[in-house]
Amino acid sequence: MAKEKNNKKSILETLGESQVWKSIIRSGVPRTRRQRMHAVLGSVFLHLHPARLPKHAVKLGYTWCMGGLSFFLFVNLTITGILLMFYYRPTVEYAYTDIIDLTEQVPLGIMRELHRWAAHAMVLVVWLHMLRVFMTGSYKPPREFNWGVGVLLMTMTMFLSFTGYLLPWDQLAIWAVTVGSNMARAHPFIGHEGPGASLLAIGDINLVHIGSDVRFALIGGRFVGEATLLRFYVIHCIAVPFIMMIFMAVHFWRIRKDGGISGPL
Ligand code: HEM
Repeated sequence: MAKEKNNKKSILETLGESQVWKSIIRSGVPRTRRQRMHAVLGSVFLHLHPARLPKHAVKLGYTWCMGGLSFFLFVNLTITGILLMFYYRPTVEYAYTDIIDLTEQVPLGIMRELHRWAAHAMVLVVWLHMLRVFMTGSYKPPREFNWGVGVLLMTMTMFLSFTGYLLPWDQLAIWAVTVGSNMARAHPFIGHEGPGASLLAIGDINLVHIGSDVRFALIGGRFVGEATLLRFYVIHCIAVPFIMMIFMAVHFWRIRKDGGISGPL
């Protein structure tokens, strides 16, 4: 009787031996430590994560979990952002009323508020993560490259926040982006009022002028308008998240390659 019981396979074991499972996970259901490590190394998603974790790496007091929380908020923003895209129309005619509708008609305003609050939280949490990395000296070799990747992630987080700010198309948004984008006028070389811009000329013709500088490219014209809304929408929903996903994959993979999370002194 006991032997019969031992011979019975659990659902997990049966699943683990099936061809479908093996074609996806490759190594079958891992039982030993070694097999578990192989399962991690053999899967593209798990491979980004270290196969072994030292105890301090999961200590809240060391990492503050701020990197993990940044990623969690990014995933949250991606999901709620996709849901918002089903309803929001990026045109001067509809943008404002669509946001009012989303706030007032959807129960508890749940989609818009989740997205908005997660966006505020992500900016804060990414800064705190950077502070933690700085305080523990984790920017030092061999992690200096990953610090650089982090700086790019931070810049893109801020740019996501800036481009998303215009989308409600209310007075606050329009004037905030007018002020923000005016700063680009003074960018060295590529802003028409910036230092060095006048050097970029062919004979008497200035290459960088009010109708060709970085501000013009950013807002799609000389003033914030219909073209800006569409441009910011595409940058906010597709371009920046796509680039960020690539850099996050590099960031996580590099943590692994740099020997895992740095240790306390
Ligand atoms: C979207 C933004 C970011 C995400 C999702 C992210 C995610 C993570 C995660 C999950 C970790 C491992 C766990 C932890 O340390 O909390 C980590 C570590 C690290 N991050 Fe970030 N990070 C981001 C931005 C940044 C920024 C802005 C910097 C610095 C400029 C940075 C530099 C680093 C470094 C150097 C490590 C290794 C730390 C160590 O070994 O102790 N990251 N990041």
